[in-house]
Formats: sequence, structure tokens, C-alpha cells
Amino acid sequence: MGAFTEKQEALVHSSWEAFKTNIPQYSAVFYTSILEKAPAAKNLFSFLANGVDPSNPKLTAHAEKLFGLVRDSAAQLRANGVVVADAALGSIHSQKGVTDPQFVVVKEALLKTLKEAVGDKWSAELSSALEVAYDELAAAIKKAYA
Ligand code: HEM
Repeated sequence: MGAFTEKQEALVHSSWEAFKTNIPQYSAVFYTSILEKAPAAKNLFSFLANGVDPSNPKLTAHAEKLFGLVRDSAAQLRANGVVVADAALGSIHSQKGVTDPQFVVVKEALLKTLKEAVGDKWSAELSSALEVAYDELAAAIKKAYA
């Protein structure tokens, strides 16, 4: 992978700002997309037991954390060229048995959500910067698997 540029970091940051303008709405887009592609995720996430409810604070808090970590991943890539995930994050996902195909489902849902959030500011450059930030974060989480 080439160096992650200042411009790529700024693009990822702007999509995070767009997400934050309506966290309940975009969280609903995100989990609805995950459930469309992977219905079994309903049993994986405790806060999806009753379906996608954007007024459930656990659901929005989780989405905000996840999208915020992708934004932090871009900042780490720009500053250090690598992403480090905390060990606790690795152990949650290894305990839940999260697989590579599930990481792809979540990536696609994240891209779809941010595309909707940024509207006409969406570009191939933003899409690829987000993919790099997400993939490096996912790799760091998997590396931290106990
Ligand atoms: C780069 C991608 C991901 C990030 C940044 C991420 C982030 C997180 C974070 C921060 C937590 C802890 C939430 C908390 O402390 O309350 C968490 C929990 C969890 N994650 Fe992920 N995650 C990612 C990918 C995935 C994938 C692909 C799956 C499976 C489809 C998954 C399933 C879970 C589950 C089941 C929990 C426990 C949630 C619960 O309390 O019910 N995660 N994740």
C-alpha cells in the first residue's frame, strides 16, 4: 500500500462529519444493510434482537463507535502508516467468532451508509480511502485476536 495522504484523511474525516449530522438515521441505514446481506447478524448483535430500532441508544452508540474508529484508522495511517487496534477489540470479535466474509459485509454496509450521508460529495477517491482505512482497521482487529 502507498502512503495514506493528507487528502485521503481529509476525505474520510468529511464522511465522518456527514455521518454525525444524523446518527440515528445513518445507523439505521447501516444495520439494515448488514441484515439484508447477512440475516444471521440479528442473533450476533444483542441490540438487533428486536430489529433495527434507531431510537435504541445501544444501536446508535455502537455505530458511532465503529464509524469513529474508521475515521481514527485514517488518522493513524496518515500519521504512522499503520493501524493499531486495542487488544479488547480483538478479543470481543474473536469471542463472537467474527469471520472474514462478515468483515466484508460490514465494509459494504459502511460504504453504502457513507455514500448516502455525503450525497453528491461521494467520489471514487473517497470510496477507496474508506476501503483502505476500513481494511487496515479490520486487519489490526484480526491481528489482536487472542
Ligand atoms: C473494522 C470493523 C469493526 C469495528 C471497528 C468494530 C467495532 C466494534 C466495537 C467498538 C465493539 C464494542 C462495542 C462496545 O464496546 O459496546 C464491537 C462489538 C461487536 N462487534 Fe464489531 N467491529 C467491526 C466489525 C465487526 C464485524 C464484521 C462483526 C460481525 C458481523 C462485528 C460484530 C460485533 C459484535 C457481535 C459485537 C458485540 C456487540 C454487542 O454488544 O452485542 N464487528 N465492535
